[in-house]
Amino acid sequence: MCYNPLERKKYTIIKNTMLQPSIYEMQIQAPEIAHLAKPGQFVNLYCKDQSKLLPRPISICEVDKQAGWVRLIYAVVGSGTRLFSHMSEGETIDVLGPLGHGFSLEDAWEAKEEAAKILIVGGGVGTPPLLELAKTLKRNYQDKVDLTIILGFRDDVYLAQEFRAYGKVYVSTDSGREGYHGHVVGLLEAQELEQKDIAFDYIYACGPTPMLRGLQTFGLRQNYQGEFSLEERMGCGFGGCVGCVVAIKQDEDFEYMKVCKDGPIFDYRKVIFS
Ligand SMILES: Cc1cc2nc3c(=O)[nH]c(=O)nc-3n(C[C@H](O)[C@H](O)[C@H](O)COP(=O)(O)OP(=O)(O)OC[C@H]3O[C@@H](n4cnc5c(N)ncnc54)[C@H](O)[C@@H]3O)c2cc1C
Ligand code: FES
Repeated sequence: MCYNPLERKKYTIIKNTMLQPSIYEMQIQAPEIAHLAKPGQFVNLYCKDQSKLLPRPISICEVDKQAGWVRLIYAVVGSGTRLFSHMSEGETIDVLGPLGHGFSLEDAWEAKEEAAKILIVGGGVGTPPLLELAKTLKRNYQDKVDLTIILGFRDDVYLAQEFRAYGKVYVSTDSGREGYHGHVVGLLEAQELEQKDIAFDYIYACGPTPMLRGLQTFGLRQNYQGEFSLEERMGCGFGGCVGCVVAIKQDEDFEYMKVCKDGPIFDYRKVIFS
């Protein structure tokens, strides 16, 4: 397939509907992107309004390689995502991708005889890329992986039902509307999970920085291996503008790395949160 993921291409929107107030689900017929996409990668969406030159990075939530579509879940937070929410089925949208590196899938449990215990933690709009991750892990490794999935939201819960097809799901809400009343790290530390004395082999997470910071402390205390997907503010999305750097530990020192090109997935133990 002669396709360059760094070249913008027009694709047709086959669905764009509200999932929850201010949370939208967009499905794009994009066979090239679907063919290449790995869990944890993202695409850049461009606005039709020429005054908004910068693309908006949105994670790939689900793909169907055979049918050739890509599903995105996005929150309306500013002018660009508001414009996306007004687009209709049948319209075209400029997309570039897939971008970044995906999650690594087997390192931590290759040598294990029993099922690897994997913890997946998502917060808010960090949750979508973890759905394709959970689906791929279950499809590729079946009974060799045992997934515990923790999802945290401010108030409204979405996607949780879909995650239930792949593992045991726990939900927390800041408002107390559903599940544990509090944040995901609180839920992790709560009696219910602690009593089960689960030692996880690997942890995957994506969500807001305060959540990831708390989770890093928790994971290091438990000595887990794992990866976080970082959602830094981005300019270009593919390494040209140095707009997305993050400090990553290297031996005794650290190095600035680009979230768009070197990430967005990093060994969580090495991320230096500012
Ligand atoms: C790798 C990655 C994956 C992401 N995946 C998702 C997802 O699946 N669902 C989702 O709802 N959101 C996701 N985001 C956040 C999303 O990119 C921003 O919410 C969106 O760009 C905001 O655009 P706006 O025009 O509405 O807001 P504005 O604030 O008007 O945007 C202005 C500029 O800032 C950039 N920007 C603003 N907020 C962010 C942010 N949090 N991260 C990166 N750039 C930002 C925009 O790209 C734009 O260039 C992701 C971000 C990254 C980096
Ligand atoms: S967004 Fe431009 S270098 Fe990462």
